[in-house]
Amino acid sequence: MHFKAGVFQIMIPALLCRILIRSCYMKRNMCTPMNHKSVILGLETSCDDTGCAIVDSCGNILGEALHSQLQVHLNNGGIIPPIARDLHKQHIERVVEEAVASANLGLGDVDAIATTVKPGMPLSLLVGMNHGKHLARTWGKPFIPIHHMEAHALTIRMVTQVEFPFLVLLISGGHCLLAVAQGVHQFLLLGQSLDDAPGEAFDKIARRMKLHNLPEFKGLSGGAAVQLAATRGDPLSFQFPFMLSSYRDCNFSMAGLKNKARQHIMRQEHEHGVEGDGIIPGVYDLCASVQWGITSHLCQRIQRAMEFISMRDMLPLDRRTLVVSGGVACNSFITGALGVVCEEYGYSLAVPPPKLCTDNGVMIAWNGVEKWRSGVGAVQDLDAVDIEPECPLGVDRREDVVSANIKCKWIKPRALLRMR
Ligand code: KG4
Ligand code: ZN
Repeated sequence: MHFKAGVFQIMIPALLCRILIRSCYMKRNMCTPMNHKSVILGLETSCDDTGCAIVDSCGNILGEALHSQLQVHLNNGGIIPPIARDLHKQHIERVVEEAVASANLGLGDVDAIATTVKPGMPLSLLVGMNHGKHLARTWGKPFIPIHHMEAHALTIRMVTQVEFPFLVLLISGGHCLLAVAQGVHQFLLLGQSLDDAPGEAFDKIARRMKLHNLPEFKGLSGGAAVQLAATRGDPLSFQFPFMLSSYRDCNFSMAGLKNKARQHIMRQEHEHGVEGDGIIPGVYDLCASVQWGITSHLCQRIQRAMEFISMRDMLPLDRRTLVVSGGVACNSFITGALGVVCEEYGYSLAVPPPKLCTDNGVMIAWNGVEKWRSGVGAVQDLDAVDIEPECPLGVDRREDVVSANIKCKWIKPRALLRMR
């Protein structure tokens, strides 16, 4: 049976500022019975998820399969690249077979093979790229190389109508990027993390707090564990210094907060004689404060980006949208606060359903669709395609942000915390 992408997504309209849950059945891309639907297979292995999906140009997910390595890496205390590679190798064939079988199609029925080739962990990327090329050669299909972060950025367009240009915040385990998406291939970079990504900070702090030793947090990603623990704590109980507060840019920094949290945990362990698998008292307050520290930092950088966009007239006044995607966009506390910023600046907020925010094959297949129908994605010479573990997103406009020298009047914490 064919089904639509995730059932819901969140939109916060600019003026009404209500959270609307709109079914994605409300919109379909350019799909009338007259149109020929193209069908793209997407393959994702850039980090620790082996994902495959088959998506058509109307945004229907025809089939999908995902193998997550999360539990193995949680047990190891972090991702060990050769282990991630071996697990991808072990599962990729089965994942593709399952996705194709669930679509009730043969590989001969797809129009092209889209595969993540950048950015990501080299050993992991290689497994996907080699398998994608192998499928393309075996079945005589065009190959579409995919930029993982561009795919996160455009996933929303599969589930709801978001026209270019829009502002997009990508927050994941490996990246923190803020850009204006002008088209399928056109991005203007306004800010990025100078050190850790927010997901990385959540993961490392959660591990240092040993949250996984509490049964209810076992098996959750660091970010999801901190979000759950934070519901029982006070976000203002522990004050983290504002990060990059003297820099009038839209870059991000999480390392200071991560180190402060680590020092606090060590001090608490020492003071309370916490040893081995023990957990510090006040762990929920610390989780709530960490989550708030990251949230308020993201909100401030977005505020400056919105001011910059107004100054440079980069988005049409009547339909300004902030898209938030990547694994950390699963966090409703963060998206709730970003919704308040959107309300203040007259933006709609659009967030894909959680299942499409974390890594998956669907977003790669959808990005393949976007590229395929814009007629520029497929490559002829497979040998000319290689992985690019480090790869920027779009044209760097960060110096222009600095030169605009924008001082912001920050939205009050009370207002941002309203969504709690
Ligand atoms: O996009 P993603 O699946 O993989 C990367 O490309 O990195 O993001 C994974 C990250 C992890 O760091 C995880 O802790 C974080 O997303 N994450 C969350 C939540 N769920 C997943 N962070 C905060 N709150 C959540 N609910
Ligand atoms: Zn990702």
